[in-house]
Amino acid sequence: MLSEELNKVMTQVGKGTPMGELLRRYWHPIAAETEFDDNPIKPVRILGEDLVCYRDRSGTYGLVERQCAHRRADLAYGWVESCGIRCSYHGWAFNEQGQCISQPYEDVSKGERNRAFRESIHITAYPVKTLAGLVFAYLGPQPAPELPRWELFDYDNGFKQIIFADVPCNWLQAAENDIDPVHFEWLHDNWSLVQRGSTEAAPRHLKIEVTEWEFGFQYSRVRERIGSPDFPRLHIMPNIFMPGGTHFEYRVPIDDEHTLSVVWAWEAVPLEQRPYHQDRIPYWYAPIKDERGRWITTHVINQDTVGWVGQGVIADRTREHLASSDIGVVAFRRRLKADMEAVARGEDPSGVIRDPAKAALVRWPDDRRRVIERGVPQAEWLKLLQQRQARMLTPNDYFIFYAGQPDHIRALYEEAMGLRQPAYRESPSS
Ligand code: FES
Ligand SMILES: [Fe+2]
Repeated sequence: MLSEELNKVMTQVGKGTPMGELLRRYWHPIAAETEFDDNPIKPVRILGEDLVCYRDRSGTYGLVERQCAHRRADLAYGWVESCGIRCSYHGWAFNEQGQCISQPYEDVSKGERNRAFRESIHITAYPVKTLAGLVFAYLGPQPAPELPRWELFDYDNGFKQIIFADVPCNWLQAAENDIDPVHFEWLHDNWSLVQRGSTEAAPRHLKIEVTEWEFGFQYSRVRERIGSPDFPRLHIMPNIFMPGGTHFEYRVPIDDEHTLSVVWAWEAVPLEQRPYHQDRIPYWYAPIKDERGRWITTHVINQDTVGWVGQGVIADRTREHLASSDIGVVAFRRRLKADMEAVARGEDPSGVIRDPAKAALVRWPDDRRRVIERGVPQAEWLKLLQQRQARMLTPNDYFIFYAGQPDHIRALYEEAMGLRQPAYRESPSS
């Protein structure tokens, strides 16, 4: 249980709030690189700030304030040029530093005499970096820390995809769910059995263990009939979850009441398909409601979403009753509190990397990579696929985490896995 005051502190993400300042010490994914092949400008709301992310014609990314400095028109309706983004209202243009670089009427009518005025005009701009097909933003004070290249981004010979979903609740509910081992038994295993009409019960949790790791937490569980077979699940501070070892789930705060769920997923291709390399990582947006307006409940993160949004837009933690199953949640909140205090003292919070050599490849605390990256022959892979599909609530689906994988992504997956011949594509589409 938290006091009303502490619940506010833990959930407010705006600039100048303790949690908002903590979250501004990390890089957050805001888009897929391939989104900009389809549209070079993407409106982005993150940490309560309205911005536009763009890729100009020279390939440079920018992340700037959404409103133009002239008379506040919406830059999301502007266009990109060889350098920067231009406002469609009166044509002022800005580069990725937020510097105004063109004011057509003033430049023509005043010529060189306009230079001082033009150079005095700036809009807010934040640094952007790309990694593993994602576009990351940093909204904190300079100097920005390194963007960690987690070991998973380095895996080879896998089909990758990026999935987004807009979730109408505070980010902390989603992040607390990452470190809550017992929910797997109920929200996923038992609920899926019930939805399938089965009267079976999932193996019960007998013991859970949460331990600190340099970048966050790892936890393991012992279940009846199963023991503790899997690698520990990893929670990376403050908002990244890696269950297993083949995908990341980012809980990116849009504002106090909305979260961008970003999934970066990798799946080993069968041995016959190797070497396999993907030039472009495709993306899609996952629906979270069905046609009747109810939450979708069939897939893993859809089930998680029901858990998160069911707690309310901002969970009232003054009315919760924590139990021993919540040791991870308690440890996570404690660390967030310590990290907010560190930031207030002017120090780096946990997990921030300043050494480029260290950030170049951040290894997991165990050797799961060797096991996960290995891959199997196609016949064996097909058997595993069929077993996975038999457990799913939607027939013939390839993706267990989010419902609604579009047909063009299915086709790319089938090509990668050797289920169909690669299609001829004149121009790649995501
Ligand atoms: S409002 Fe953007 S150029 Fe005038
Ligand atoms: Fe879950």
